[in-house]
Amino acid sequence: MNKLITLFCYKGVRKNDKMKNYLVVGASSGIGKSIAFQLAKLGFQVFGTYNKNPISINDPCIKLSHYDVLNENISLDFLPDTLDGMVYCPGSIHLRNFERIKPEDFVKDYQLQVIGAIKTLQSVINLLKKSQEASVIFFSTVAVQLGMPFHSLVSTNKGAIEGLTKALAAEYAPKIRINCIAPSLTDTPLASSLLNNEQKREASAQRHPLKRIGTPEDIANMAVFLLSENASWITGQIFSVDGGLSTLKI
Ligand SMILES: NC(=O)c1ccc[n+]([C@@H]2O[C@H](COP(=O)([O-])OP(=O)(O)OC[C@H]3O[C@@H](n4cnc5c(N)ncnc54)[C@H](OP(=O)(O)O)[C@@H]3O)[C@@H](O)[C@H]2O)c1
Repeated sequence: MNKLITLFCYKGVRKNDKMKNYLVVGASSGIGKSIAFQLAKLGFQVFGTYNKNPISINDPCIKLSHYDVLNENISLDFLPDTLDGMVYCPGSIHLRNFERIKPEDFVKDYQLQVIGAIKTLQSVINLLKKSQEASVIFFSTVAVQLGMPFHSLVSTNKGAIEGLTKALAAEYAPKIRINCIAPSLTDTPLASSLLNNEQKREASAQRHPLKRIGTPEDIANMAVFLLSENASWITGQIFSVDGGLSTLKI
């Protein structure tokens, strides 16, 4: 029965929605990969990118191309004329004692987390402007809202992303909606060093009011909602998807 309902909904989405094109930067891993698969399942065309890890995806709705935001001359010539949404996933979690982080480490991380997002959005802004209902998603972290030791590097640069989200949401309203998701610890390759044994996984789960760490699907569910027309009155927001960590003390 459930399968039948799923099939029915799936067909309904395909029939009623016009074909939409989404760029997912970083679709080869973790959260971006899950977003790409969810969008493809809804019948949308996904232009995903990888950097170091080309993966093979056997889904006609997902086209994967190489893209390195740290390249001086970036090229997104694999994109169509119109984009309905863009998601920027590249990020890092370098947890270190503040005194051991060199100023240049902050700059290097900023290049990936912030300048990469800026360069990419500037490259595709004209394609997004052609859409009737364009939506952009950036990623922050729970560690911006909630101060955590050893998080100065990631918090500084994700804090910039939150500021960027709000400024750009104001600048591009009502044409393009721009939102940001701030996850807590999520089970992806990026977080593997924090989750590489059962003890660490259990301790991390217990720190969260909802007593588990996040899955890529938990975060992708929010991203796909924010990309959709169901979120058409939402812009300039930072969404905590964090098992309650940033707001609850239980
Ligand atoms: N996982 C967590 O616990 C967590 C918590 C809070 C916030 N976040 C944020 O959520 C976002 C997604 O994280 P994730 O865990 O899904 O990360 P992930 O598994 O490491 O995936 C990152 C993606 O970005 C791509 N990428 C990396 N460097 C790139 C570059 N220079 N140019 C272009 N693409 C590049 C990677 O491609 P390749 O693999 O092909 O190199 C990969 O597809 C990040 O912004 C992260 O900071 C994650």
